Amino acid sequence: MDRILIRGGRRLSGKLPISGAKNAALTLLPCALLTDEPLTLRNLPRLADVDSFGHLLNQFGVSTLIEGSRPEDFGRVMTMRAGRLTGTTAPYDIVRKMRASILVLGPLVGRAGEATVSLPGGCAIGNRPIDLHLKALEAIGATIEFTAGYVKASAPGGRLKGGRYTFPIVSVGATENVVMAAVTARGPSRIENAAREPEIVDLCRCLVAMGARMEGIGTETLEIEGVDRLHGATYAVMPDRIEAGSYACAAAITGGDLTLTGVAPDDMRATLDALGQAGVTIEERGNSVRVTATGPLAPLTLSTAPYPGFATDMQAQFMAMLALADGASVLTETIFENRYMHVPELARMGADIQVRGRTAVVRGAARLTGAPVMATDLRASMSLVLAGLAAEGETQVSRVYHLDRGYERLEEKLSAVGADIERVGDG
Ligand code: UD1
Repeated sequence: MDRILIRGGRRLSGKLPISGAKNAALTLLPCALLTDEPLTLRNLPRLADVDSFGHLLNQFGVSTLIEGSRPEDFGRVMTMRAGRLTGTTAPYDIVRKMRASILVLGPLVGRAGEATVSLPGGCAIGNRPIDLHLKALEAIGATIEFTAGYVKASAPGGRLKGGRYTFPIVSVGATENVVMAAVTARGPSRIENAAREPEIVDLCRCLVAMGARMEGIGTETLEIEGVDRLHGATYAVMPDRIEAGSYACAAAITGGDLTLTGVAPDDMRATLDALGQAGVTIEERGNSVRVTATGPLAPLTLSTAPYPGFATDMQAQFMAMLALADGASVLTETIFENRYMHVPELARMGADIQVRGRTAVVRGAARLTGAPVMATDLRASMSLVLAGLAAEGETQVSRVYHLDRGYERLEEKLSAVGADIERVGDG
């Protein structure tokens, strides 16, 4: 298995291009199921999860054509066509590797009147149930049954009728699923306490480009008027705010000067504000953000929250950065119960972190030292890369497949701005 090798202590500087957003891509891809016409997505990141989602769509008879696959290209264009669906079952083997597979449930039941998806099971960052996905689909007319590890959703009479649902807590994935199911329902739907993440806005805009009718995009109340059919469209995936935030942390932790290009600064306001509070200089110019760090970082008190709050997907990266701040920081994780798996690994590199329940106290250390480390999820792995960039000596991050799920050509992007980083095989 590949590892990432980092010799730390280099100050990063230069321009770093940001890719299309993984989490937006994974909710835009299933939109192809909603029409028999082609859906073309541009600015898709080249990531393992995007490839897996393409394979999942193939299972239902969707054709996928990829352009821009020259090795030197960042991003790709994919055209999907679901002319006739040949299946409606998402098998365990694919779902267990990629949780986002659950996002085919809504569009499949909307288009075909039924969908069977393997239950995703446990997940490294916590329990991650799907009860809200199912309750929301039920509220707009789906019937839900469980058999042998699978959940089956069907629309009586072949078409959902639409309805009202108020989420008891904000869920990104469940909002995505119910929105995709409601756009072709027979009647109107009203979704309250919907997630407002920029990825949801991206989804809604793509659906509108395909002929969906809805109001309240970007607010917590979505009103959807079901239409008889959707048509094809060409849509560009939004910039990855989490990738951008991660590289902003790379500039901060190395005392560097990075200009992130192709970003949407307004989508990452909470991250940029937090960096500003830590003493990092942020300059925005249109679609680029320059991140400059000089001098010690100030400690922070941060709590993860649904958008527009501080993203749970940025918690691990900030923790690495704050491990070198001048004082004690307090981080609270409110979204997932088990999202501190990077803590023991960071501790092995010299970080002083104490976790009590959902709160972590990070006492800034004078330095970190390189070590062999590994993490059990994507953002946790990135926090170890960040620590490695700032640490003295060599850091080896194993289980690189986590990083490949969410960071397009990480080592290439980081080497281009001065990091000493390479991917090595086990051989
Ligand atoms: C969450 C994050 C998202 C991030 C993604 C990957 C939030 C609100 N969501 O999205 O920003 O990109 O993880 O790290 O920050 N829940 C249930 N039942 C359900 C669905 C969710 O109880 O059916 C709970 C979850 O356990 C969690 C909370 O709701 O505590 C939010 O989960 P949700 O937003 O659905 O998770 P993701 O869509 O994976």
